[in-house]
Amino acid sequence: MSLRAIEEKDIQYFQSILESKNVLVDQENLEKYSHDETEDISVLPGIVLKPETTKNVSDILKYCNQEKIAVTPSGARTGLSGGAIPIKGGVNLSMERFDQILEIDEKNYQVTVEPGVIVEVLQDTLKEKGLFYPPDPASKGSCFIGGNLSENSGGPKAVKYGVTNEYVLNLEVVLADGSIIWTGANVLKNATGYNLTQLVVGSEGTLCVITKAVLKLIPHPTQDLLILVPFRDSVQACEAVAKIFNAGITPSGMEFMERDAIVYALEFMGDSTLSIPDDIQAHLLIEVDGNNKEVLFQEIEKIMEVLEAFDTDEILFAEDQSQKDQLWSIRRKVGEAVKAQSIYKEEDTVVPRYELPKLLQTVKSIGKEYGFDSVCYGHAGDGNLHINILKGEMSDQKWNQELSLAIRKLFEKVIALGGTISGEHGIGLVQKEYMDIPFGQVELDLMKGIKKVFDPNGILNPDKVLK
Ligand code: LAC
Ligand code: ZN
Repeated sequence: MSLRAIEEKDIQYFQSILESKNVLVDQENLEKYSHDETEDISVLPGIVLKPETTKNVSDILKYCNQEKIAVTPSGARTGLSGGAIPIKGGVNLSMERFDQILEIDEKNYQVTVEPGVIVEVLQDTLKEKGLFYPPDPASKGSCFIGGNLSENSGGPKAVKYGVTNEYVLNLEVVLADGSIIWTGANVLKNATGYNLTQLVVGSEGTLCVITKAVLKLIPHPTQDLLILVPFRDSVQACEAVAKIFNAGITPSGMEFMERDAIVYALEFMGDSTLSIPDDIQAHLLIEVDGNNKEVLFQEIEKIMEVLEAFDTDEILFAEDQSQKDQLWSIRRKVGEAVKAQSIYKEEDTVVPRYELPKLLQTVKSIGKEYGFDSVCYGHAGDGNLHINILKGEMSDQKWNQELSLAIRKLFEKVIALGGTISGEHGIGLVQKEYMDIPFGQVELDLMKGIKKVFDPNGILNPDKVLK
């Protein structure tokens, strides 16, 4: 189905339903909305629209569906797989004006939010009431709930509390033809028909546009302890991860950082308070949380016992809240810091936790074979390794032509280890060429069929996820 470019009559229509400040066609704004945080990719939309109501979204989609105009929904544009890049031009539908927390239902531990609410703003507002919404991607200070829903985001807390989809009860969405529906009910159990709510979560803006979400909350834990463990061998750091869980502990954070990850983050932040000895290859940042400090100390002791079997240096025990904040902010800055070093590609592999050491070894051996350096870090407790492949001194020819073979080889190995090619960043634009690795034709055809039912004209985030 071919989609057409924005014309003067479209601008006039959009100006008839939105205030003119919410209809943007100037170069500066088109450029601003042409990219997210994925590599250096950018494609200009034909127009940026900022709807304010569900009715606005419905009118826009109805019109674009009739006129066969591409609509790429976008949030804070912090995504890492190119989901918000308007690769077919058309409308960039920015949901930033949907920024209200509509209702905190303390009696039922639920919150109703609009998709343009910043995740950290929601978390802080809820924390004041003793409530907890756990998913917390590294970009929580700027990313939107809507983006998290679209990508099924994770973050460090996922290891204990689960990823976004585990907190979604019900969604108000607008379909491609402009229909407005709720996908489920505001209940904790739901065995009523196909689960449309969970189908929408993680669908990367390709099926519908989310306009409201009802999220599940839990009581906020009151205590936590945090340690930073330096390892002389990075494979050993990965081995320690499963061993800690096998000792009966479920940490609320279990993050892996290769040496360069932490060194680059410290440099990037201008932080000289932490020095990393020359013989240290990797760190684990381990958090436990709950409501009883004594229990948490016992858990840390048990973790220390497990760690005795590994070659570690002196363990840093965060003394107070400010040191905890410092260590977490170092961890959260790794992605940005590594990207500041070189042209890069970022992978988001995930394997069963016990296979993590093999995954790291595979990355390094494929790197040697194809001549690239990589910096690995991520949510080790989930078996989720972010792999930043650095271009460094690699020739353009190798980077542009051979690297995708190396990535293919890596992903095939990930599947052989029982894993998959994205844990939390999504497929979007940059991973879709690899979708034949985790899935066969039958599964891909099922997905294409679902897309067709939701969006027969293919206007919603076209050419993402599936080829
Ligand atoms: C992180 C992002 C990149 O974990 O997912 O830092
Ligand atoms: Zn991550």
